[in-house]
Amino acid sequence: MIFYLTTLTNDPTYCTKMKTLLSCSLLFLSIVVFAQKRVRPVDPIDQKVKALLAKMTLEEKVGQLNQYSGTRDVTGPAGDKTTNKLEDIKQGKVGAMLNIRGVKEIRAVQEVAMQSRLKIPLIFGLDVIHGFRVTFPVPLGETASWDLNAIELSARYTGTQAAAAGVNWTFAPMVDIARDPRWGRVMEGAGEDTYLGSLVAKARVRGLQGKGLGNLDAIMACAKHFAAYGAGLAGREYAAADISDQTLLNVYLPPFKAAVDAGVATLMNSFNTVNGVPATGNSYLQRDILKGQWQFKGFVVSDFGSIGELVAHGYAENQEDAARLAITAGSDMDMESRSYILNLTRLVKERKIPVSVIDDAAGRILRKKFELGLFDDPYRFCNEEREKQVLGDLNESLEAARKVGAKSIVLLKNENQVLPLSKKLKSIAVIGPLAKSNDLKGGWSQGWKNDQIVSLYEGLEAKVGNGTKLLYARGCNFNDTLRTGFAEAVETAKNADVIIAAIGESSGMTGEATSRTDISIPGVQEDLIKALVATGKPLVVLIMSGRPLTFNYTADHANSILYTWWLGSQSGNSMADVLFGDYNPSGKLPITFPRVLGQIPIYYNELSTGRPLLNPKDRAWKSVYMDQPNTPKFAFGYGLSYTTFEYQNLKLDKTKMKGTEKLTVTMDLTNTGKYAGEEVVQLYLQDKFASIARPVKELKDFQKVMLKPGETKKLSFVIDKQKLSFFNQKLKWVAEPGEFKLMIGTASDNIKLKSNFELIN
Ligand code: NOJ
Repeated sequence: MIFYLTTLTNDPTYCTKMKTLLSCSLLFLSIVVFAQKRVRPVDPIDQKVKALLAKMTLEEKVGQLNQYSGTRDVTGPAGDKTTNKLEDIKQGKVGAMLNIRGVKEIRAVQEVAMQSRLKIPLIFGLDVIHGFRVTFPVPLGETASWDLNAIELSARYTGTQAAAAGVNWTFAPMVDIARDPRWGRVMEGAGEDTYLGSLVAKARVRGLQGKGLGNLDAIMACAKHFAAYGAGLAGREYAAADISDQTLLNVYLPPFKAAVDAGVATLMNSFNTVNGVPATGNSYLQRDILKGQWQFKGFVVSDFGSIGELVAHGYAENQEDAARLAITAGSDMDMESRSYILNLTRLVKERKIPVSVIDDAAGRILRKKFELGLFDDPYRFCNEEREKQVLGDLNESLEAARKVGAKSIVLLKNENQVLPLSKKLKSIAVIGPLAKSNDLKGGWSQGWKNDQIVSLYEGLEAKVGNGTKLLYARGCNFNDTLRTGFAEAVETAKNADVIIAAIGESSGMTGEATSRTDISIPGVQEDLIKALVATGKPLVVLIMSGRPLTFNYTADHANSILYTWWLGSQSGNSMADVLFGDYNPSGKLPITFPRVLGQIPIYYNELSTGRPLLNPKDRAWKSVYMDQPNTPKFAFGYGLSYTTFEYQNLKLDKTKMKGTEKLTVTMDLTNTGKYAGEEVVQLYLQDKFASIARPVKELKDFQKVMLKPGETKKLSFVIDKQKLSFFNQKLKWVAEPGEFKLMIGTASDNIKLKSNFELIN
């Protein structure tokens, strides 16, 4: 170009050529502009939102930001007696409802919204956490499957069934990283790991939203609780999260980012403070990160009453202040605290909040209503025929629940290969408070009644033939201090070939507001196990819970242990499939199980220390406890199979990789046992020297592989710069050149293959 210009100035036809050059440049510019316009076409929904906002009064816009909780009674004011909710809906003062379900009830409330001036339809939200009509395993349990397709599929059934019942929006998935089993809500998430949690977040969002909003079987997902809700002090519900910025960015936020990348429609913020600032009033989280850096286009709903709670936090002086702080910080919708509906209009009129902030929040909510197709037909999710048909045709989803239930079970111990049981056993003693219990849904279950749950006993009955006698004794209740039922249980056990004992927590012991300071198995249940061990009969223990529990006696003395979580509708069938080997267990723990409470918080990807314990015999002045090992009882990623696997032939295609390159790792996995089975091969990395201390290992990839006995498969993993990157002290996302340790194993504490490689500039 420069050459062309210099030769031009010496040219007699300079002027003509210059004109040509200019017109060419103009033409080129117009092509660029045109091309850009073509790349970013006018968004028709944006236009519709703008047009609607232009017709709305300020009060109506604020109304869109208001969400009420309904009750089953839609004919009169519900919940808070001082609010006439239906009247507010009629006046356009409500944008969404929660806790109403079923086509009939939803239609009745939508009809009220259609009486409002602009007839803006309501969105109906509900906590559909692990199944709607059919209940799937609790999210933590389902994550133990490490089977992303199965997880997505159960979310798909969940979304389809909820949508058929008129629901447009679920407050799921919970993507909070949880490292503290005292916190009851560990049950609702994907456990302690950021990488696994991020993939599960994506799978659940994809499953719930299906082929996209607007389809009749898709509901809006909501990644919650933004953010660091799982980092509450001492595992106490709603408590403050005081963590470093690096931990926030490296550990707690990535699953939310993954959900946003997967197109999640909404986020819910959290009750807790994050480094001093309540999440609900947190501009750094919601404006800078979520809507700024991540360009999130959906809307943020507060948690139930969390805007009002800014006052109790000592962050807002009163409700008006709370409303101002929350909307300014980017909380778009107020769930049930009424701070917005009572204050925002006045705050705008007094010029304490610019109307553009209200327009932005209302616009985000209206956009989702357009995407859902509610403006085309506010009753499109209210088809009683479809509801009856979808919720009446459950065979496929029940089958999926049974399968993912079996995949979620973790085999913790199998001494002398007591499992799988033979179908030819003469008699089995089925003992324990959970043996015949139908209360196996786990918290936040919607549509499935207890009497429809397949209990363990029922699952066994359906599995064994006439030749096998099932004997039963309850032994004790969950919280018993009495041992009066032990004698009968022991007698029953003595008459059987094998004992199956089912113990654990009751289904309501995990979920919101169920923190415990003691995570041992409640009551005298472990004493019952002691009495059963004394019979000398082979003993298989099933432990049911939504959180890791401590059960050292059982772990050390039972022959076999299956951790079954809460498996939902098909519980007993899934358990029976695993007990008798119709499904070879493949679950792996998504969260660390401590030996004792005092080890909490304990998680596998801790930061290194200056005095690590390298040799168990050399404990002096090392980072250890005096009275317990550092190691957990069962580590993250741990889980056995009825077969065995051999890891061999680790190969890296290079030992030095540039940031622009990819490194391919291959290995051979062989099934060396007698049963076909699946193994979850886990790849961990450690950045050996970095500008901040890095975890001793971090999961960066995994594959779940099915192998027949004797079969070998070559697996290959790809490592790129993203997998080596982290937020440094200055909160910059970097991959620092240097050495990395690569570890591949069957659990975070059972590494089978190791190597090193280097990242170079
Ligand atoms: C409070 C819980 O924290 C949240 O997860 C749930 O979605 C809302 N209540 C609505 O029920």
